[in-house]
Amino acid sequence: MRNTGMMEAAGASSRDAQINLNGREFVRAFAALIKTASIYDPKNTIFNQPVEAVHKSVSRLFDDNATVTVDVVVDEIYINRNLIKMDMAIFGSYKQLGEDLLSKNLGGFELSANPNMDQWKQFAVLLARFKASTEEGWREANELFSRQGMTWVTFTEKKERLESAEHVADVKSRRTRALRNYTQALSVMREAMTHLEDPDKIDTRQAKRVVHNLVDLSFEDDDDFSFMGLSSIKNHDEYTYNHMVNVCIISIAFGQKLGLKKSHMGELGISALFHDYGKLFIPLRILNKSTKFTDEEWEIMKSHPLLAVRLLYNLKGVSPSSIKRLLVAMQHHINYNATGYPAFRVPQKLHLYSRIVSIADTYDAMTTRRCYQEPFAPDFVLKYLLSEAGRKYDPILIKAFINTLGIWPVGSCVELNTGHIAVVCKTNPRPEHLERPYIKVVRDRSGNMMDPQLRDLSHPSQASLKIMRCVDSEKYNINVPHYLV
Ligand SMILES: [Fe+2]
Ligand SMILES: [Fe+2]
Repeated sequence: MRNTGMMEAAGASSRDAQINLNGREFVRAFAALIKTASIYDPKNTIFNQPVEAVHKSVSRLFDDNATVTVDVVVDEIYINRNLIKMDMAIFGSYKQLGEDLLSKNLGGFELSANPNMDQWKQFAVLLARFKASTEEGWREANELFSRQGMTWVTFTEKKERLESAEHVADVKSRRTRALRNYTQALSVMREAMTHLEDPDKIDTRQAKRVVHNLVDLSFEDDDDFSFMGLSSIKNHDEYTYNHMVNVCIISIAFGQKLGLKKSHMGELGISALFHDYGKLFIPLRILNKSTKFTDEEWEIMKSHPLLAVRLLYNLKGVSPSSIKRLLVAMQHHINYNATGYPAFRVPQKLHLYSRIVSIADTYDAMTTRRCYQEPFAPDFVLKYLLSEAGRKYDPILIKAFINTLGIWPVGSCVELNTGHIAVVCKTNPRPEHLERPYIKVVRDRSGNMMDPQLRDLSHPSQASLKIMRCVDSEKYNINVPHYLV
């Protein structure tokens, strides 16, 4: 135990040292770029070196983070909520950058992506010329930079103090944050609905912020909190929004298990969140139809991927991530063997995110109750996905998906050999115990509700317990999300 503790401490201190090193590099490079921008004409080749240095340092910061935040608090600079230590080597840059931002009534900024070098130059020139006319410089700057298409940056207000990353995590319980982010993601989609005729008005920053918070939460999965469990929240009245948020959560959880970098998980999450955006254009009488579609209705339904492309194309700011959003919206029903829709004369190679989202999409759609469908049990859906591996779905990803979810996926309501009913709360991390997840027994065989304690079915003390089958939680009046989040 002692050794593990020492190794963890050593790991944390080397991580802190790395963050500080990358942060110092950014402070030095960014201060030099702003200084260059305040003196020279943008056409001057002198910009090349500082622009390249900033781009490189930000790339390193994005290696471990879905967003990069810079905060100036009185006379200190924090990057991703870590205090960057000032010393003589960076004294000049540190002081200049801090004073410069504060004099413009900016408390700092948040980057949702690392822009390209031309965009960095444009950003620096605009920032160097920017002067706030009110106390709320950050609001003015957000409007100005947004008008110039720089939607990857959000300026923040001045603050007296900043909680450290650890402190913030402690104070706000994960469950509260998780539910708040879930609700915010729903609001983003509801809001998007109101701007169908004018997608330019959609606040993609808010969507990115919510998704990046969800990405961070996916790394906090433990005995008390199941990130994947968030996708068990089902709301029949708002199916389309609810489905898009759940597909986003499942895709992020899957992306994390696949070992994607946080920045890629963010791109994947946003793409998943907007994957069915085109459905907002489909009349509710068709979306909620409980009987079979006519040919004409089916054609309308099948138009949702291309409708989404048209809408997403009109959103502000074209970037590599926005192109991936378009691809996922267009490709998520094409199928691995190109038998789906829309059909193209030349077969398309599906983007990795499209292949992930198409699996998450089917999993959520089939496990959800609809007016035309009773929910399928999660284990049945996994078997279905497996049966279509290599046809509708990427066979390698399907195997990885089953490893992510286990034989009895998180959120399943199951009957044990003792007649008790339990909720599956966590996949067993050891692959040899995929069929022995962590569960909470919630109901005894006589139907009495029980005090749910987390049990590891792979532990020798639980060896006599066996999961027999999945059951419908609603029939047993069990509110699954309650036991997960
Ligand atoms: Fe779809
Ligand atoms: Fe969908």
